[in-house]
Amino acid sequence: MVSAEEVARIIEAYPADRRFALAAMQDMQNEFNYVPEEGLEMLAEHLGCPIAQLFAMATFYKALSLTPKGKHIIKICNGTACHIRGAMNLVTGVKRELNIEPGETTEDGLFSVEIVNCVGSCALAPVMLVDGIYHNKLRVEQVPGIIDSYRAKDGEQHD
Ligand code: FES
Repeated sequence: MVSAEEVARIIEAYPADRRFALAAMQDMQNEFNYVPEEGLEMLAEHLGCPIAQLFAMATFYKALSLTPKGKHIIKICNGTACHIRGAMNLVTGVKRELNIEPGETTEDGLFSVEIVNCVGSCALAPVMLVDGIYHNKLRVEQVPGIIDSYRAKDGEQHD
């Protein structure tokens, strides 16, 4: 849940200068896993610039998302090498496990799934990343165990 106080704290850390728009949005992305609309509104007001300009930037930069993302980001590489070695089987395995399509986030907010282009590890295809950690030469049977390990970690943190 995004609080207006947290958004204000991030924004007010920057001078009222448009040069800092991207940095402030990156901070929001890091803090909330996306850039909330209320954040863009408050930032536009703080910087005295049109909100449309901030929307355009947020859409342009791939590292920024305007929709909430899960706590864990699963990226399945579908570059040529991974595609040939069964990337789509991994997509099916992840879908089966999480019940969501690529581009979606689970209802509990734990996982988002994306299909991406080559992640530079073709010799070890097929590759899936979770929060930037590479799972190489991955077989679809291994997918549930990997996802469960993240669920278990989160469970421990709540205990
Ligand atoms: S195609 Fe998947 S790592 Fe290159």
